[in-house]
Amino acid sequence: MSDYLKSLLIGNISLDLINSGIRLGGSVIYGGITLASLKADVVIATHLDEIHGVLIEDLLKTFDIRALFKNCKTLPKFIICGGKALEVEAEGCVHDLRTLVNIVSDLKPNLLLLVPVFREISVSDSLELISTARRIGVRVIGIDIQGYVRSIKDRGLECSWPKDLWSLLEKVTIVHGNLREFCFNKDFSKVVKELAEVTRSIRDTAIVASMDDEGAYLFIQGEVIKVPPLLAEVQVIDDVGAGDVLLAAASYYMTKGLTSVEAVARGIAAASLKVARGLLQQWFTIDEIDNYSNIILNMLKHVQIKDS
Ligand SMILES: Nc1ncnc2c1ncn2[C@@H]1O[C@H](COP(=O)(O)OP(=O)(O)O)[C@@H](O)[C@H]1O
Ligand SMILES: [Mg+2]
Repeated sequence: MSDYLKSLLIGNISLDLINSGIRLGGSVIYGGITLASLKADVVIATHLDEIHGVLIEDLLKTFDIRALFKNCKTLPKFIICGGKALEVEAEGCVHDLRTLVNIVSDLKPNLLLLVPVFREISVSDSLELISTARRIGVRVIGIDIQGYVRSIKDRGLECSWPKDLWSLLEKVTIVHGNLREFCFNKDFSKVVKELAEVTRSIRDTAIVASMDDEGAYLFIQGEVIKVPPLLAEVQVIDDVGAGDVLLAAASYYMTKGLTSVEAVARGIAAASLKVARGLLQQWFTIDEIDNYSNIILNMLKHVQIKDS
């Protein structure tokens, strides 16, 4: 396989209010920077407002990320606390399916990530987009569930699991969500059991449920593997976007042909290193990811699911 990897990320750039300062965010930014740092060719399809256009274009230029923009009056705006979006001040614009289908068809990426922050791609549009992507031979397709499960209640963010999201999970190579976003059940032990069960039948999908400073579970073909974080190495500086880095790095390594276990260990290494570094520092190098993922691979634990 050639070294050249073409990636396309679809989702909205957001404005994140963190500790009363505002900064650009969204999975396309955190995931895009991750993929660019791994030397992939990165294109993002997103919306842009008038006020932040120059700032966004400057940031993307720094990382050599190409962006395909549509205009929108407002970007989605979140209030973030403890690494978690708590409130929505603006929802942002929805993506047009025809435009996205054309972008995927023209670009023919090897890696496609659908990473909405707030319902800017619907489940049914995602399904159509994925069937286009499969037809033209996109190697790896990843989704982050966060933007599919968010809904608003009294301006606060709530998690609600759309029933048709299950049909999307079975069509993609890798799924990421924070464990609390798999909110089809409030009981975490039942969520773990059900995800194990689901991957017994949808055998081509790896599901990663991450748990902030406790690492992540990887579900693959009915197996449950606990992937530890790099706690001994990590002094938390900034944990916003950790899950986005995890998904982008893991899916990058899957596209390169690594197994899902090897790829997710690298994703956790990249996410943990990002958490330990400031926004303006280099998050990681490829060598660091290789070294730390070996430590993680030696600490993996297979989890036995008990029948209740
Ligand atoms: N505070 C933290 N300390 C150590 N590792 C962390 C921390 N936050 C995140 N990570 C690492 O990054 C991974 C993904 O982050 P997580 O916070 O679970 O995703 P999300 O951004 O979706 O909430 C975790 O599985 C863990 O390995
Ligand atoms: Mg987190």
